[in-house]
Amino acid sequence: MSESESTRKDFPDWENLYKSQRVETIPWYNERFDSDLERELDQRKIIANGKKFLDLGTGPATQAIWLAKRGFNVIGSDLAEAAINRARKIHASEKSVNFIVDDILNTKLRSNEFDYIFDKGWFHVLLPRDRKEYINKIKKILKDNGILFLKCFSDKEPMQEGPYKFSQKEIRDLFNESFKIDSIRETVYQGTLDPLPKALFVVMIKSGQT
Ligand SMILES: C[S@@+](CC[C@H](N)C(=O)[O-])C[C@H]1O[C@@H](n2cnc3c(N)ncnc32)[C@H](O)[C@@H]1O
Repeated sequence: MSESESTRKDFPDWENLYKSQRVETIPWYNERFDSDLERELDQRKIIANGKKFLDLGTGPATQAIWLAKRGFNVIGSDLAEAAINRARKIHASEKSVNFIVDDILNTKLRSNEFDYIFDKGWFHVLLPRDRKEYINKIKKILKDNGILFLKCFSDKEPMQEGPYKFSQKEIRDLFNESFKIDSIRETVYQGTLDPLPKALFVVMIKSGQT
């Protein structure tokens, strides 16, 4: 997808959105554990065992909490301070998750810090010009052989508005250089929209040196 003005999309002011709207009403709110991530963790027999998981662009924090319940050591990061303040307040008793304000494109997170990263819905709202930097930063903070689980809208979704949509080929072309694409599955993006938008669930393993 080329970055011409005609393909450029506008996204909400995240801070205002989390200040002004109940999270339960936003399109990506899913109070349940993402079923694609759950399936992958089960099929790959991935157990917590002290492993560190980043829920990138955690927003309503539901996924970070599910990961913590499964025993992972979790960081939920988001650019929006309002989202992080809310998550800290509501989940104060959850000791195995830390919520931090962090812009992934200028991240304060350490190199080789994470065994796993879940990105549900952040990559697909990233402007095309920032995709390379996103990949660089993910590579930096993920350990060698660490896994990125990515959920984004699929080009099979007919809705015009909303996030960028990707074909399987586009995902391969973007990530191939730095990651081994282990699987890509057509699925849906669970949230509050009806019908649920068509989505891709991608599992990729960091290869090579940072
Ligand atoms: C579509 S929402 C998905 C939220 C969450 N992952 C979920 O599915 O419930 C995208 C999230 O990315 C966050 N975000 C936007 N820009 C970011 C950045 N530069 N670094 C980290 N998070 C960012 C937004 O605040 C928002 O919470």
